[in-house]
Amino acid sequence: MNIVLIGYMGSGKSLVGKHLANKMKLEYLDLDDYIENQEKKTISKIFEDQGEIYFRKKESIYLKEVLDTFNNTIISLGGGTPCFAGNLETIKQKENTTSIYLQTSLKELTERLFKERSKRPIIAHLTTQEELKDFIRKHIFERSFYYNQTDNKVITDQKNADQITEEIISLLF
Ligand code: S3P
Repeated sequence: MNIVLIGYMGSGKSLVGKHLANKMKLEYLDLDDYIENQEKKTISKIFEDQGEIYFRKKESIYLKEVLDTFNNTIISLGGGTPCFAGNLETIKQKENTTSIYLQTSLKELTERLFKERSKRPIIAHLTTQEELKDFIRKHIFERSFYYNQTDNKVITDQKNADQITEEIISLLF
């Protein structure tokens, strides 16, 4: 079995993924890290040198590779992964694969991402918190179509990684 964690940037996919893997005694894999290792470049550098279209093509190829190769693994995706190149269909059609959407409020996402935006090429150009909030609001509206098609959803606001982990485990068993 594989569990795929989906959600907007800053929703805690990596942190929760690690906790969940630990608790369930499964492996953990972060798709962004996998892409960086394969391409031998950071995500920011890939966007800078080759652009987003190149990144999305590679992201889709590596997603398939990961789903075909790994087993008993918690896989955290990038925030945009399910929204491009039929990736959501790929995940949904994969046997023994459950998807979980970590849903976080606009307020929490804005607060978290404002401090860390330089690491994320999609939002690195935004200078004020208000600007970032407006961007995220619109972006989530567009992406929700994909996010809401996952098998399960967990609301993460005001919860720590352990609480979210427990909630996911109770949803699954
Ligand atoms: C992206 C999210 C990032 C990374 C890339 C694009 C997006 O992953 O894949 O910068 O389009 O939302 P995180 O959600 O892990 O930050």
